[in-house]
Amino acid sequence: MSENKHNLVELKHVYRYYREKGGGILSAVSDLCLSIGRGEVFSLVGESGSGKTTVGKMSVGLTKPSRGEVLLEGVNIKSLKQEARLRKVQYVHQDPYGALDPYLTVREVLERPLVYLKRVKEAHIREEIMYERLDQIGLGYEYLFKNVKELSGGEKQRILLARVFLIEPDYLVADEPTTMLDSVHRTETLNLLVNLRKKMDASMMVITHDISIVSLLSGRVGVMFQGEMMEVGTTEELLKNPLHPYTLALLAVTPDKIAKSKNAILEDNKHRDLSLTRTADYKGCVYAGACPFAFEKCRIEKPKLVRIEGTHSVACFKYPGESANLAE
Ligand SMILES: Nc1ncnc2c1ncn2[C@@H]1O[C@H](COP(=O)(O)OP(=O)(O)O)[C@@H](O)[C@H]1O
Ligand SMILES: [Mg+2]
Repeated sequence: MSENKHNLVELKHVYRYYREKGGGILSAVSDLCLSIGRGEVFSLVGESGSGKTTVGKMSVGLTKPSRGEVLLEGVNIKSLKQEARLRKVQYVHQDPYGALDPYLTVREVLERPLVYLKRVKEAHIREEIMYERLDQIGLGYEYLFKNVKELSGGEKQRILLARVFLIEPDYLVADEPTTMLDSVHRTETLNLLVNLRKKMDASMMVITHDISIVSLLSGRVGVMFQGEMMEVGTTEELLKNPLHPYTLALLAVTPDKIAKSKNAILEDNKHRDLSLTRTADYKGCVYAGACPFAFEKCRIEKPKLVRIEGTHSVACFKYPGESANLAE
């Protein structure tokens, strides 16, 4: 049982396995620990397939961990009834096209959670709430009468956000919230998300494969690779002083100035060989096959996340430090 009252969501040594078509077992997430505080923003970064969505979905109870547990306010999330859970935690899908039924009107999309989750009985109060949320996302009242299929991608994403914030969850996961949008709408939507979250004082996990987005967000960042957490720190700690060779490689592909000097690592990454780390009996660092700094120990033993300074932790033998138990 967790005693830490500041943590809203806690992932404690969670694992998630999937059965592969060939009969093998894929370890999508391994031994991951993470706590998200009340009102905290946590960005989860990593390339496609690194397990970000699986972590995000486990954190809201949409995917069950194969091992380990997820706590919401100290209570195992699997013990909550669906309705109670959905009032507290929400997941915003990356695809605004798939997430909204095109044949519904915007009114239906927004009013349903007010009726079924929030149980707002009075129609005029529902009307007021919908009006307020539409106003907050910069869309007029007339949008209530539009069909979802008439909306642009950017408008759909806004309606999705309006729906989530209408529920006023304590915690939400925004999974690649801007990936499907063009560059103009990207910053706009991200700013909207950040502002709405602030107003509601909700905790939020933002999932992105694009580390350059992180500089627009406050709070902490976690960098994942092959189902494991490589580095965690505040956005400032991570962007000013990236430690893990994988974080350096990720930063090197963004146009950010701080990354320019680290470009040599990117070159090495083009030749990375991860075939070794995919085998079942491999016990070393999952990044060793691609890492220009890897030495003997990296291939036989897995580095644990260790605290370097402040909240900054890294799982890499290059750095000596104290063991950082992020579930505490
Ligand atoms: N339902 C599923 N069934 C089988 N494999 C899955 C399933 N969901 C995810 N995976 C696999 O787990 C790994 C991590 O996936 P995911 O969490 O979606 O990563 P990301 O969001 O970082 O792209 C990938 O290799 C993916 O193919
Ligand atoms: Mg994903």
